Amino acid sequence: MSQRTLVLLKPDTVRRGLIGEVVGRIERKAGWSITALELRTLDRGTLEQHYAEHVGRPFYEPLMDFMASGPAVALVVEGERVVEGVRALAGPTDPIAAAPGSIRGDFGTIVRENLIHASDSEESAEREIKIFFPGLA
Ligand code: PPS
Repeated sequence: MSQRTLVLLKPDTVRRGLIGEVVGRIERKAGWSITALELRTLDRGTLEQHYAEHVGRPFYEPLMDFMASGPAVALVVEGERVVEGVRALAGPTDPIAAAPGSIRGDFGTIVRENLIHASDSEESAEREIKIFFPGLA
């Protein structure tokens, strides 16, 4: 089942020089392709749309500040079961709970700086792709 998903490489990934490492893991999965990619510093309006469901949560403001703290990379990835697949590559939200071999398990320690966002469902993916790449059909 071919799908597409929205991936963000968070500012910690860019600051630490890990773009190639993380993108490489995605590129090496058989049959997946990157169909859009952009490096940019995310503005508050974009982040408010993206994280609308988390307004009022205790982590919301720290997350917004962190996500606007420097350039991030937004990507669209397409391929077989890519929604579930990128989240499996990423590992769980808390990097300390993430298994070695996953992106968060290999490179993360603190929850806020967990390197990568990936859409949690096909519906979320379509919503999020419109926010970051409004020109994509
Ligand atoms: S939930 O309850 O399952 O919806 O929450 P979860 O998916 O675990 O987290 C939602 C997003 O918030 C980020 N997050 C945090 N950021 C900063 N500080 C803390 N403590 C924190 N806890 C969770 C988490 O990484 C999710 O962001 P994305 O961009 O989706 O990874």
